[in-house]
Amino acid sequence: MQHILHIDASYSNERSISRVLSQDFITAWKKLHPEVAVLYRDLGHFPVPYINETWIAAIHSPPETHTPEMIEALKASNPLLEEFLSVDRYVFGVPMYGFTIPATLKAYLEHLIRIGRTYEVTEAGVKGLVHGKKALFITSRGGDYSPGSTFGEDHQEPYLRTIFGSFGIKDVQFINVNNLVLKDREQSISTAQASLQTLATQW
Ligand SMILES: Cc1cc2nc3c(=O)[nH]c(=O)nc-3n(C[C@H](O)[C@H](O)[C@H](O)COP(=O)(O)O)c2cc1C
Repeated sequence: MQHILHIDASYSNERSISRVLSQDFITAWKKLHPEVAVLYRDLGHFPVPYINETWIAAIHSPPETHTPEMIEALKASNPLLEEFLSVDRYVFGVPMYGFTIPATLKAYLEHLIRIGRTYEVTEAGVKGLVHGKKALFITSRGGDYSPGSTFGEDHQEPYLRTIFGSFGIKDVQFINVNNLVLKDREQSISTAQASLQTLATQW
């Protein structure tokens, strides 16, 4: 059975476009693959704790040397890592905040940067250890970041490609929904909805 991890990162509720679209995709995908198991995590409303010095010390030392504080730090973090590693696919709804991803998503991803579990460092650089998975990112942006636009630099897609690539997850797709605070908003949403329905049959 396939397992999907569906994650939303918008701080907004009903007004969130990335939430609506990520759910649309999951609904379409489930219709075609009724046997799939979907795990859901709402980072926008239920943020994970930040990693800290104790966490860093813990992941760089053998478990038998861990203090009660280190054990406590990993108690919140290890289930996030195990959940991430346990699934086959990821669907993320990601708003653009400040030209990049929301802080809660960054905080979540920091829990996954685990040497020996998600990556290793070799002479040739960082090598990912997570294989055979694919990810879909549905991003929502107020402005226009399509090629040729002068709205600003997109630090969202390149960042997500880099960090997932560092984990070894290179089969990544993006449906970037631009212009959500501009006049083409409705057109952008309906184009994204059509693309997601098509992608659900091919992904
Ligand atoms: C705190 C904050 C920062 C934002 N920064 C940007 C930005 O840098 N570039 C942009 O195009 N839109 C920006 N926006 C607009 C959002 O990307 C847009 O409203 C999008 O629809 C949010 O996703 P959501 O609808 O899923 O909540 C920002 C919105 C908020 C609330």
